[in-house]
Amino acid sequence: MTDIRCIGICTGGGDAPGLNAVIRAAVKSAILKYKWKVIGIPDGFDGLIWPERSRQLTLADVSGILPRGGTILGTTNRGNPFHYKTIENGEEVVRDISDQVIANARALGIDAIITIGGDGSQKIGLDLGVPKTIDNDLCATDVTFGFDSALQTATDAIDKIHTTAESHHRVMAVEVMGRDAGWIAIEAGIAGGAHVILIPEIPFSVQKICNYVAAREGYGKHFTIIVIAEGVPLPPELRQLSRGGSVAMLVGDAISLCAHKEVRVSVLGHIQRGGSPSPCDRVLGTRFGAKATELIANHDFGKMVCLRGESVMGVDIAEAVGHLKLVDPNGELVATARAMGICFGD
Ligand code: F6P
Repeated sequence: MTDIRCIGICTGGGDAPGLNAVIRAAVKSAILKYKWKVIGIPDGFDGLIWPERSRQLTLADVSGILPRGGTILGTTNRGNPFHYKTIENGEEVVRDISDQVIANARALGIDAIITIGGDGSQKIGLDLGVPKTIDNDLCATDVTFGFDSALQTATDAIDKIHTTAESHHRVMAVEVMGRDAGWIAIEAGIAGGAHVILIPEIPFSVQKICNYVAAREGYGKHFTIIVIAEGVPLPPELRQLSRGGSVAMLVGDAISLCAHKEVRVSVLGHIQRGGSPSPCDRVLGTRFGAKATELIANHDFGKMVCLRGESVMGVDIAEAVGHLKLVDPNGELVATARAMGICFGD
């Protein structure tokens, strides 16, 4: 077993609040506990494709970054070394440059790499993965860091929408992130007291929502808050109108026509990915970063750190990726929401 002397660390895919907490924890424990050198790999794996861009991280580099949003290393959704796209003779070609990436890592003296990323980045991960996504849709972990902060942002927005919706007697729709899974929508919707929640896991019809809006009017509630996950499956009549933009705009227009109510739409977008991580995400990120270095110290490679119950542990990356954790339409969370009178449009 060769001794570890130097580790690399990179962030890949969309950013999430708490990335800097993981970087800080990994760098601190690597240097203070294990006496390793740490190389910061910028912009996903770009710093291994162009190794001259990578540089050593010191304690000074991670000082003060715990509450900071984003990632000090930068990130990218592109640059998968196994499917690397380049332009050659004016044509796009896809190459596997993973051997070159590994050779560059070795040339930098790196013995193991911590990849902080979502499902896509974990598949590319070389040694040790730390899961990240605000969508909270990775199966292997109870929760991903970044989700709690995104939930806070979305809930704050719904609280603000609530007062203006009530004052103006309007239907107000809030579109939140969640490409495949409706975790942010359902949890922020419940937390913010939404009346309708539309999630990718439950097909909806505009008519059902309009009936619900009319029922509320009937008992004196002249406003309705609708939270919509960006990945909801559109009903056929809306699908043909879609130009690939905001789904909430389409749904809002359709409700306005059939419910004869004024509708306003707010699309939260990347606001949910920005800003300072919540205390929960700072703690989870710190635990994940420290655990990643511990696994490396034990030569426990090919693992992704995860939270299971109260414990942070390592699971095989191969087992961890590729299965999305979706909201169960028949589960307790949806049942609780329904018990609160929340309509899912079904
Ligand atoms: O996967 C996280 C996520 O925030 C999704 O909810 C969203 O659809 C996507 O990333 C947006 O990615 P981009 O930053 O590339 O637009």
